[in-house]
This record gives sequence, structure tokens and C-alpha cells, in this order.
Amino acid sequence: MSTWQRVCDVTALEGNVIKEFDVEGKKLAVVRAGGEVFAFPLRCPHMDEPLSTGMCDGETLTCSFHLWQWNLKSGKSTGDAEVDLLKYPVKEESGGVFVDLATELRYD
Ligand code: FES
Repeated sequence: MSTWQRVCDVTALEGNVIKEFDVEGKKLAVVRAGGEVFAFPLRCPHMDEPLSTGMCDGETLTCSFHLWQWNLKSGKSTGDAEVDLLKYPVKEESGGVFVDLATELRYD
């Protein structure tokens, strides 16, 4: 069963951007890159630093602390990252961005 929770207005994620949100007590790093939106747990799986301070280049997300990298679409490691990045399902609807917090985190 899915449970979609509103994160923000679509207009809060314009351009290529990474922002931190708290949705139902879960802290998320939400990324807009290349017109798509992706949502990850806020904390980097390396040393728990916030991914919201990271950088995006094309489809690559880079943690700003020790430069681990992942593919945004797949969550797979593309650099030195020793683990892949789990994602939440995301949809844009009625001017809002929604995440499904009830669905198990997954890789694509
Ligand atoms: S805390 Fe993110 S790469 Fe180290």
C-alpha cells in the first residue's frame, strides 16, 4: 500500500537544486535535476552527513563531505561510494511534489 505525502510545491524545486525537507518526521534530501525529482534519506550512508549540502552534475549526486557519488536515477554507486543509495518513490501532481514514505526504500 502506498501513502503519498506532500513534500512541497513544485515551485519550491526550480532549476537544479537539492533541498532538505522534514516529512512526517522523516528527513529527506530532495533533488531536482534534469527536470526530474528524486528523494533520498537525508543522511549520507558513509558518515551520516546531510546529502542536502551535496552537488548534482547531470545524473550524478555527490556528497559534499567525502565526495561519494551515485547515479540519481538508479541510486547506484558511480565513484568511491561503497554502498548504493536508497530512494523514495516520487511523483509530481496538482502543483505539488509527493513522496511515498510507506513504500520500502529501493534501488531502481
Ligand atoms: S559523509 Fe557523505 S561521503 Fe562521507
